[in-house]
Amino acid sequence: MAEAAVTGDPVDSALIPPHGGALVDRLLSREEASARLRALSSAPHLRLDARQVSDVHCLAIGAFSPLHGFMGEADHDGVCQRMRLASGELWPLPVVLAADGDLARGLTTGTEVVLDDAAGRPLAVLTVSEVYRVDLEAEVLASYGTGDGAHPGVAARLAQGPTCIAGEIEALRLPESPFPAHDLTPSQTRQRFAGLGWRTVVAFQTRNPVHRAHEYLQKVALEMVDGLFLQPLVGETKDDDIPAEVRMRCYQVLLAGYYPRDRVVLGTFPAAMRYAGPREAVFHALVRKNYGCTHFIVGRDHAGVGNYYGSYDAQLIFDRLPAADLAITPLRFEHTYWCRVCEGMASRKTCPHPADDHIVLSGTRVRAMLSSGELPPPEFTRPEIAQILVEAVRAG
Ligand code: ADX
Repeated sequence: MAEAAVTGDPVDSALIPPHGGALVDRLLSREEASARLRALSSAPHLRLDARQVSDVHCLAIGAFSPLHGFMGEADHDGVCQRMRLASGELWPLPVVLAADGDLARGLTTGTEVVLDDAAGRPLAVLTVSEVYRVDLEAEVLASYGTGDGAHPGVAARLAQGPTCIAGEIEALRLPESPFPAHDLTPSQTRQRFAGLGWRTVVAFQTRNPVHRAHEYLQKVALEMVDGLFLQPLVGETKDDDIPAEVRMRCYQVLLAGYYPRDRVVLGTFPAAMRYAGPREAVFHALVRKNYGCTHFIVGRDHAGVGNYYGSYDAQLIFDRLPAADLAITPLRFEHTYWCRVCEGMASRKTCPHPADDHIVLSGTRVRAMLSSGELPPPEFTRPEIAQILVEAVRAG
């Protein structure tokens, strides 16, 4: 476990510095982990859910640099009220470890708690720095712009409760993954980008199966930068989203057939989806800076759900933030679609034809088509991808 000042490394020196200046590494070596665990035989254990496991994973590999662990009250309040950590760094969403009030009250500063995964296996050690209660309504309103319990991110946070345990973590291991070849950590992507000679790298965040609009955004961006880092989110999503394993298969097929091999890196993003719209767009961008990306694609209703956010709210929020604090450059895209008259992907910026000429399918409509075994049209998604999706939905 070390904290490497990436700017000081000659291999990486041309890459963008991580958020806060240094890449955090909270993963113990195998030997350190077994020694640590042996010494903690009488420590209290806390069982994490899938979202919390994702947070530990992101903290361990430095995806959430400069965070070393779960936030204390000063960071929490700064983030909610001003989108700033107590240190002054930009940070838009709380990363907190909520726990049952009775268990948390028994913990004092300095106590070491073993964090277990959902199956009860030790994953990390947290050294308690603080136990505090948040104003949960104020937190969700600040993070999500709504307190509506029907919002999936709000519902997940409300269910966790207001008592939070803060402290630095040390990961004993990383959670198992079905995509080992693609589980690249920020230090690994930095090495990969440097090896490829990339100076400018655009990141693409996604939680949905790849379709033509995604491909268009990625390829327009690729015209402007050295490389593309495709990073599908593989942590917890809402129940009706397509599983990560299916989405990764879609990407493998698409990349093999339609992308130049040496201009794209496919990696997984182990975070859970929060569906926090604008604030999550900033969060997604800052985190991709840690992976070594200089640009970040923000399209229509980024990280949105239902009708909670305006189509371009997640772009407008970047206009209110100092570019120097962000450092990563957002690439904003209009709503894009296939236009029958243009015979290609287009947006209002490039196409004069009326909506009747556009092929636009909502997520709900696509889900209904897939469930009834109907292939979405090739203007919406490539036939190879449609086939994988129909078969996956049929297999249930
Ligand atoms: S997200 O929750 O990860 O944002 P999704 O995987 O659908 O969902 O989107 C990935 C990125 O593509 C986001 O930046 C989103 O705004 C953008 N996007 C998706 N569909 C379109 C579209 N038709 N036009 C423009 N941008 C889009």
